[in-house]
Amino acid sequence: MKGIILAGGMGTRLYPLTKVTNKHLLPVGKEPMIFNPIKQLISTGIEDILVVTSKEHMGEVVRLLGSGKELGCDFSFKVQEDAIGIAQALSLGENFASGDSITVILGDNIATHSIKPYVDNFIFQGKGAKVLLTKVEDPERYGVAALDELRVVEIEEKPLYPKSNYAVIGIYMYDNQVFDIIRNIKPSARGEYEITSVNNVYIEKGQLTYDILEGEWTDAGTFESLECANRMLFKTDNKILLN
Ligand code: G1P
Repeated sequence: MKGIILAGGMGTRLYPLTKVTNKHLLPVGKEPMIFNPIKQLISTGIEDILVVTSKEHMGEVVRLLGSGKELGCDFSFKVQEDAIGIAQALSLGENFASGDSITVILGDNIATHSIKPYVDNFIFQGKGAKVLLTKVEDPERYGVAALDELRVVEIEEKPLYPKSNYAVIGIYMYDNQVFDIIRNIKPSARGEYEITSVNNVYIEKGQLTYDILEGEWTDAGTFESLECANRMLFKTDNKILLN
């Protein structure tokens, strides 16, 4: 299992904070935001981590992270030239994955408790994909899962009329079919290659499982959620809590 952190994008919702730096380098608690997804991956036992970011900020990201020696992992880096969706950014990880399965974290997703139990469940599952769900008050901001008793039956990206309060958070586990799937999806109405489209293909194949996330989670892409992320990580002293 390898790890991929997607840390591109313009971060326009946080202007002017992100005018001269990358969103994922902003402070959350006592560390740069991107440390939380990195520590999450390390907590699962993953050592090989690819960081995808834009060319404007690659220099700063590499200056911060280095080889990974200090954090106890091995970083690779890849430039995303165009911000045309999460699935397109993920496609840049194909050579890095080289047939292995992957855990993907969106660099602005902050979680207090280790995701190791879910990664272990996925390794046991052996095939397909897994998403993590959490109950939210404002599902229309996220990918939203429609559930029956056992399964996710559909995921809708930022629906006007959400079918549940369960957001699909930005932490995903995939087997090596994911890159073929990405090649075959079409851009959404907003012109992006959506990760939700990829997850819906796994649903059609009957190969998508889910777990409900323990502990606190937020994205940190808006001023309100960034403030929430700060509160969360000051409380935990930026440590990943073990379940
Ligand atoms: C992305 C995904 C969405 C997911 C969210 C989690 O949205 O498209 O499905 O729920 O991340 O942070 P974004 O916040 O990039 O618009």
